[in-house]
Amino acid sequence: MQKYILLLSFFILCQLNISAQTQGVIIPKPQSQLMEKGVFDVSKPVYIFTKDSKLKDIAQIYKTELSQYIDNVSITDSKKSKSVNCIQFKLSNKLTSEAYQLIIGKGKIEVIAGSEKGLFYALQSLNQLLAIAKTTKTNLQCTKIMDEPRFSYRGVHLDVSRHFFPSTFIKKYIDALALHKINTFHWHLTDDQGWRIEIKKYPRLTEVGAFRKETLIGHYRESPQQFDGKRYGGFYTQTEIKEIVAYAASKYITIIPEIEMPGHSLAALSAYPELACTTGTFEAATKWGVFEDVFCTKEQTFTFLENVLAEVITLFPSQYIHIGGDECPKERWKTCPNCQAKMKAENLKTEEELQSYFIRRIEKYLNSKGKKIIGWDEILEGGIAPDATIMSWRGTEGGIAAAKQGHNAIMTPGSHCYFDHYQSQSTEEPTAIGGFTSIEKVYAYEPIPEGLTPKEATHILGAQANVWTEYMDSENQVEYMLLPRLAAMSEVLWSPKNRRLWSDFARRLPDFINLLEQKDYNVSKRFFDIQATRKLNRDGNMEVSLFSNQPNAEFAYYEIPKEQQSGDTENPKRGFDPIIQTYKEAIVLNKSVQLEAWIMTKEVKSNRRFQLDFWKHKATGKSITLKDSPSKSFPGASGAATLVDGQKGNKSFNGVQWLGFGDGANMEATIDLAEVQTVKTLKLGVLDDTNNWIHLPKSVSVYASKDGIDFTPISKTEKGDIMPNTREVILPIDVKKFRFFRIIVENHGIIEAGFPGAESGSWLFVDEIILE
Ligand code: ACM
Ligand code: ZN
Repeated sequence: MQKYILLLSFFILCQLNISAQTQGVIIPKPQSQLMEKGVFDVSKPVYIFTKDSKLKDIAQIYKTELSQYIDNVSITDSKKSKSVNCIQFKLSNKLTSEAYQLIIGKGKIEVIAGSEKGLFYALQSLNQLLAIAKTTKTNLQCTKIMDEPRFSYRGVHLDVSRHFFPSTFIKKYIDALALHKINTFHWHLTDDQGWRIEIKKYPRLTEVGAFRKETLIGHYRESPQQFDGKRYGGFYTQTEIKEIVAYAASKYITIIPEIEMPGHSLAALSAYPELACTTGTFEAATKWGVFEDVFCTKEQTFTFLENVLAEVITLFPSQYIHIGGDECPKERWKTCPNCQAKMKAENLKTEEELQSYFIRRIEKYLNSKGKKIIGWDEILEGGIAPDATIMSWRGTEGGIAAAKQGHNAIMTPGSHCYFDHYQSQSTEEPTAIGGFTSIEKVYAYEPIPEGLTPKEATHILGAQANVWTEYMDSENQVEYMLLPRLAAMSEVLWSPKNRRLWSDFARRLPDFINLLEQKDYNVSKRFFDIQATRKLNRDGNMEVSLFSNQPNAEFAYYEIPKEQQSGDTENPKRGFDPIIQTYKEAIVLNKSVQLEAWIMTKEVKSNRRFQLDFWKHKATGKSITLKDSPSKSFPGASGAATLVDGQKGNKSFNGVQWLGFGDGANMEATIDLAEVQTVKTLKLGVLDDTNNWIHLPKSVSVYASKDGIDFTPISKTEKGDIMPNTREVILPIDVKKFRFFRIIVENHGIIEAGFPGAESGSWLFVDEIILE
């Protein structure tokens, strides 16, 4: 018996011992990694050893870096005694240029790489292990890593037009990219709101075009829109750009500059109005969106753009230049004599073909200078330029079409790659453009779209995270939106598909977040927030299960019955003392309440509270059918059932609670209450957001039936009765003994002049249908 206890404690000790060493917690996850017995003792002096003369400079630079983690570091080119630890650098022509092996042994670390670039990646991995070892005061566990990226294009973008960020920040941004083994920085340098790159031949581009007179405050959607009244701008001199390009190169990052054309060009037109289709003056945009004034297709524009590009290519050694090509309205071209003459002369039938002509001409010019073009997926319209690479952003279709036509593509679909979207649905989240792209969603992204043959799939070079900065006016906010979602994206791009497992990533992420914070990045802590799964059961009660990625989290919660809420959104429990409970199992909500939960464990990584408003009413969880489906873009969290799930939509149409009906379409829903009931009131959630083409309904009608066949009209309200900005239409019903209810919501119809989207069909947004 004694023997067994001894054996057991030995086993437990071994386990403890292993967990006291730094395990393989590298992000992005290496292609293969074997943990081995023993440790590399980080308390001993270390010398860096390389015979390769090409690697001597790198060794010198790495010595300084390594001194952050190990006290006594020196460099040598001849082997020293075995009593001192050694890190050896070697190149091997058996490895591809980005590949490396990192072999951590008891007194020696071998770093073998296909090139200096591979060596750089090896050292990123080693640094992560050393940083964690330092924080946790442990040694490095011996390990053997063989690593190589899955995709050759691993990109991150930054928009410096909507908001400008100085060189110091661009370098810090590049540092973050390097930590994630990103190899391409797509620098969005020009747009409607500001031209940010010095062009010597056209000084007005930065004297005038780099500044706007003021900037929109708050969300574009807000009505009335407000402006800050402050002149805003900035630009990079060519000297600064050269320095940044060299800095990025030292981290093995290529910078691809983007010069937008023919659309998104208001800032350029503000400096050189003669390049527009119409006469007059222009100013850099003060709010976001797409603008109708774009570059004219006259010869003067091509001369200008070629001169601009001539300077751009001297600054950026990148093989690729991004020429934009997205969101170019054709209104001006349709009525411009110059553009129409160009179409005639070139035998172009549509304005789309004219755009295609524009891009081909620019491509021809850049090809003649030894460069290739990348453009947003709109450049497929009217025919793709012969050697262009497509950046697929409006979904994956552009990438698929490009690959099928034998063109290369880079995937940046808005659904997974737009880091300007919300990362959390918490009401505490800072204002973002919209959408919802959680880190889990980014992690689940697969860049190779379905429907491609293996050969076509080779045209998918990789993917890219896009950081559009309309709603990021500070460095802190850019970091917050980038991190840690970039960690998820880095694994999508680098790690083998079959090694990607969310639970494993979630285990490694906390250490990586620590590392980013040690490097002074403002990282979102949303990963540690309380999360919940919700299940509506047959009785219309909601079961809420809480969890958190914070290790060992325990939760406390209370419920405030709706009738007890003070109506004060800042302090809903004013005057009411709820009972605080410890969370043990799924909470069952069986009446209308607000549930609030928080992490009560001592060391809280996210102190955000979780809030859920639940409305229990006669239709909650009941069967509902829709005559016509909502738009594919706004289908709701669970289709028609979203309308009776006991939860209401928030103020953003992007919230998953909303069902959107586009282009003037009506909504007709039929609810089966399963038994006859007395119903007194109908409350219907609707949105009023005319900036986004969403109008209040023209009318709401209710019909009731006992058999589901014959329906009797019960109540109707007209638009005049609905308060503007309301999110709820209330209709008295007052019927007894009816089982089926039909709700017909009539779309506003055609949008009137003076409103955004005038003359188009309006959107109708509907959420919870409450029957009380
Ligand atoms: C884009 O988001 N307009 C490329
Ligand atoms: Zn024109």
